[in-house]
Amino acid sequence: MTQNTQIAVVILAAGKGTRMKSDKPKVMHDLLGLPMINWVLKTVEQLNPARVIVVTGEGMDDLKAAATPYETVVQPVQNGTGGALMAAMPALDGFTGDIVVLLGDTPLVSLDTIEGLIAARHNNDVGISVLGVELENPTGYGRLLMNADGTLQAIREHKDASEAERKTRVVNTGAFCLGTDGLNDWLAQIGNENASDEYYITDLPEIAARQGVKTSVALAVNADEVRGCNTRVDLNNLEHVARRKLCEEFMLQGVSIQDPATTYMHHDTKIAAGVIIEPNVFFGKNVTVDAGVHIKAFCHFEDAHIGENVTIGPFARLRPGANIGKNARIGNYVEVKNSNIGQGSKVNHFGYVGDCDMGEGVNFSCGAITVNYDGFDKHRTIIGDNVMVGSNVNLVAPVSIGDGAFIAAGSTITKDVPADALSMTRPETDTREGWAAKFRKIKTAANKK
Ligand code: UD1
Ligand code: CA
Repeated sequence: MTQNTQIAVVILAAGKGTRMKSDKPKVMHDLLGLPMINWVLKTVEQLNPARVIVVTGEGMDDLKAAATPYETVVQPVQNGTGGALMAAMPALDGFTGDIVVLLGDTPLVSLDTIEGLIAARHNNDVGISVLGVELENPTGYGRLLMNADGTLQAIREHKDASEAERKTRVVNTGAFCLGTDGLNDWLAQIGNENASDEYYITDLPEIAARQGVKTSVALAVNADEVRGCNTRVDLNNLEHVARRKLCEEFMLQGVSIQDPATTYMHHDTKIAAGVIIEPNVFFGKNVTVDAGVHIKAFCHFEDAHIGENVTIGPFARLRPGANIGKNARIGNYVEVKNSNIGQGSKVNHFGYVGDCDMGEGVNFSCGAITVNYDGFDKHRTIIGDNVMVGSNVNLVAPVSIGDGAFIAAGSTITKDVPADALSMTRPETDTREGWAAKFRKIKTAANKK
């Protein structure tokens, strides 16, 4: 769509979100790790708007920060969506063009849908266009009451609607497109004689109609993207939708996801084509997975990078700063934090690698750990290339193991080990022949008494 007029976007986000039962403003609640307001802003950005104004409430500093670099205005009292648009009017001074009003609590609305809303205002030669959608269950939403000629007569809030009006399943998604002409005058006519004692933006179509200005409805095809969020149940439903969409995008790009329903993505997860993901995997923030990686079931990743062709899991945990080199293997019950694992190295079973630089081709056997914390400070462990770290070894940092060294199983290493050395701290094995048989005999006899 090519639009000749300029676009100003006003995002209504001042609501306290009482139904979320939270101290945070509603739009600051996260969806896949990104606040709802930022989902809306990310989409709005693609419209190339001349102005973006976010309506916030008094003292909502976090929201103001999240909206940066966009302009914010404060709605002094949260007296309704009409009041919120009124609060934005001074910031629109001198603007002519399309004003697109979006709700901050409808985070998944797409660019196409917003463009369709703008087009509906122009193509139908009306003053206002409203984004509607048909819902199976319209409870709670404002109903769109139509005129015989297909234009919109009025929007009736659920609370204010009659039984007959409530039967309408076509509802208001909350998004509007309108011009500046007459807007201040219409806003001044909004009253608060309704079930909520609020100034509803949804009164505008009726008010404009009195002056002969018509409203048309643009219908969103996909109901999931225009659903609002009033409770944490709604938030969870939206999260499912966003997650499913993200998984589908990855699958279309060549990632195999065996069970999208149990694959928890973050909004910024990066996965290359050819990766295989088994069920029950959690991606926290800032995770990058390179090509050819196989992620086995039940893994948890956060702030980590997994290099090409790595096999990881099942039950592996990568904590912040984990950087796994190409072809490495990270097995079950292994935790890696703030460490570099070199190419082709193996940490296959029950281990902890923290604050460590591990070279290439290292075998870090079952139960070996880095002892990185003395109760006050963290220390690094340096392991050269091709080192063999035996089972149940404690590498007490700061410590450095030279290339090709061999650390015998069960050792606690507190001093640097030179290249190619064997290092072992372990009591000699003391074997007493026949001891166990004698012991059994004595015990059996004693127990018979
Ligand atoms: C609103 C619509 C309803 C529509 C539904 C779609 C009105 C009167 N009702 O109802 O027709 O079906 O959205 O999801 O518009 N806000 C402010 N200042 C306020 C009040 C709200 O900025 O004083 C913001 C909120 O932060 C929120 C948005 O406006 O992002 C919608 O407010 P909310 O109270 O959730 O409206 P609904 O009851 O969902
Ligand atoms: Ca809402």
